[in-house]
Amino acid sequence: MKNVVVTGGTKGIGKAIINQFNERGYQIITCSRTAEDCKAIEAEMSNLKAFQTDMSKKEEVLRFGQQVKDHFNQIDILINNAGIFIPGLSSEEEDGALEAMIETNLYSAYYLTRSLLEHIPENKASHIFNMCSIASIMAYPNGGSYSISKFALYGYTKVLREELKPKGIKVTAILPGATWSNSWKGVDLPEDRLMQADDVAKSIVVASDLSASAVIEEIVLRPQLGDL
Ligand SMILES: NC(=O)c1ccc[n+]([C@@H]2O[C@H](COP(=O)([O-])OP(=O)(O)OC[C@H]3O[C@@H](n4cnc5c(N)ncnc54)[C@H](OP(=O)(O)O)[C@@H]3O)[C@@H](O)[C@H]2O)c1
Repeated sequence: MKNVVVTGGTKGIGKAIINQFNERGYQIITCSRTAEDCKAIEAEMSNLKAFQTDMSKKEEVLRFGQQVKDHFNQIDILINNAGIFIPGLSSEEEDGALEAMIETNLYSAYYLTRSLLEHIPENKASHIFNMCSIASIMAYPNGGSYSISKFALYGYTKVLREELKPKGIKVTAILPGATWSNSWKGVDLPEDRLMQADDVAKSIVVASDLSASAVIEEIVLRPQLGDL
């Protein structure tokens, strides 16, 4: 039985990833800030535990890491997915936007990975995925501090890849473009202009399925018609 940890798995891309691994019989642990959503997803899947956690707070990330270690003796796949998007210009966005997004989008992955690494087996095709973004490689209007935080997460992913290469732990950066989720709710665009969360989830499953001697270092996904 294989174990997967997905942060921010109650909605959007994280939920789609969980559905994919659930179909493949994995044991799953996830988290989100909303207690009712954690209860609801636990009720949906008997092989899943969900812990209410604010991943922007170091002490809560470390508590979540301990809860994972209490339940899983090893972690085969860790997917650092939790993230927030606050649009704005870096020159005009509200004070604190940069801090909020660095804490949620970067520090969360850094602290959780450090906390779980000792439980991620070496040379067993185990795998860490970080949910970066097209905003990790290009700036765009109103991207502001979101883009800064995602560039930083992408940088962290490259560092991890180098550090874990000799240990036989795979590291992959996922860089999706616009994907239907809460962030895009109410946007007046045809359904097929954006990607589906399940498209991103399926790409992770494919990458996780290679032999121990191969790693997909980066997955860049865009809507067929390109960026918005
Ligand atoms: N959608 C896109 O177009 C797109 C494109 C590129 C990259 N991404 C990235 O993909 C990831 C998922 O985004 P999404 O679009 O699927 O967003 P979403 O639908 O808003 O889902 C985000 C998930 O993360 C949880 N979450 C948010 N902040 C959290 C926190 N501080 N602590 C714990 N859980 C938290 C949310 O639950 P609660 O709100 O209940 O905490 C929810 O389960 C993010 O890292 C995002 O930057 C998205």
